[in-house]
Amino acid sequence: MKRLFPLLIGVLFCVSLAVPSFAQKTDLAPTPPMGWNSWNHFGARIDEQIVRQQAKAMVTSGMKAAGFKYVIIDDTWAGKRNAQGFIEPDKKFPNMKALGDYIHSLGLKFGIYSSPAAKTCAGYTGSLGHVQQDADTYASWGVDYLKYDWCQRPSTLAAMKTAYEQMHQALLKTGRPIVFSLCQYGWFAVWRWSASVGGNLWRTTGDIEDNYYRMAEIGFSQVGLSKFAGPGHWNDPDMLEVGNGGMSEDGYRTQMSLWSILAAPLIAGNNLAKMTPYTVQLLTNPDVIAVDQDPLGKEGYPVKQEGPLQVWMKPMADGSKVVGLFNEEITTNHISVNFDQLGIQGAARVRDLWLRKNLGIFKSKFGAWVPGQGVVLVRMWPVKK
Ligand code: GLA
Repeated sequence: MKRLFPLLIGVLFCVSLAVPSFAQKTDLAPTPPMGWNSWNHFGARIDEQIVRQQAKAMVTSGMKAAGFKYVIIDDTWAGKRNAQGFIEPDKKFPNMKALGDYIHSLGLKFGIYSSPAAKTCAGYTGSLGHVQQDADTYASWGVDYLKYDWCQRPSTLAAMKTAYEQMHQALLKTGRPIVFSLCQYGWFAVWRWSASVGGNLWRTTGDIEDNYYRMAEIGFSQVGLSKFAGPGHWNDPDMLEVGNGGMSEDGYRTQMSLWSILAAPLIAGNNLAKMTPYTVQLLTNPDVIAVDQDPLGKEGYPVKQEGPLQVWMKPMADGSKVVGLFNEEITTNHISVNFDQLGIQGAARVRDLWLRKNLGIFKSKFGAWVPGQGVVLVRMWPVKK
């Protein structure tokens, strides 16, 4: 054993040099990434001017101050390859480097999109056969985040892992820290292996739509995935629709609450330059953002379900518990939870996170009237005896 020990230390040292340490990867996304992405609102109607306008609005609206920082161009930016095989942006994006510099000058970070296939989902040029070249190009533009979208048939698990690992290695080789966002709609139980191919976040479902039923279908189907999330690696139930107009205020409040309990990436998908004060409030409520960004990085889970009436709980770093009372019915319902179902012994101090109001001390249970397709979100601190 005595002789083996120095050998073991040597091997561990070499491995630590060869493989980027877990700590390095965790540094990239210690809490779920927050930002904005062009797809949900602008789709293919995105160009450099709009991205600049959105980046600026992220600052002036107070979203940057609330924690949002990635400005991500989704599909349709890519043009053709030049004679040397390097990707050139579509004419909608005349100068990516200048755009990256502008985003950085605002104290924000720059995100981009590609696919391991020959074509992206919208039919633009993908990275097939040019993975390292593309990673190097992104790094030269100052890219800090890549969403890598499968855009093909399911294929095999091995082929999928190989494609994602290839881009992961290419990103590492650039020497630039780039958050790696996997988008392959949750196929092959991606949460089990995504972190092993460098994923900092991975989509767990197909695409969201701007309506309550699709949002709820996605959000409430995350049951069982919590153990796969943690600092550096997050389940991604797709982007926010808040502010896009297809849901009621209660519906959007439900998405913000559920996504925060899920420790999901908070990637806004609306037009940041045209927000009602209410949309800004929904996106920037500090009590709610603190749930999502809690340093413990625990994803929440359901503790009680009565058909469409559900109670979800997220344990927080300071020992408190965040509790969401969700009502999927269209009429108001009373929902309650006993503290023993939350692992709270004795009484708790309760704060309503949307009202931003302390509600007082509750002895052994908490209940509230919850509007149809709405939520009541509270945080509970056990009271020391
Ligand atoms: C897929 C993704 C979406 C978006 C589009 C772009 O559908 O899941 O998030 O990126 O492609 O074409």
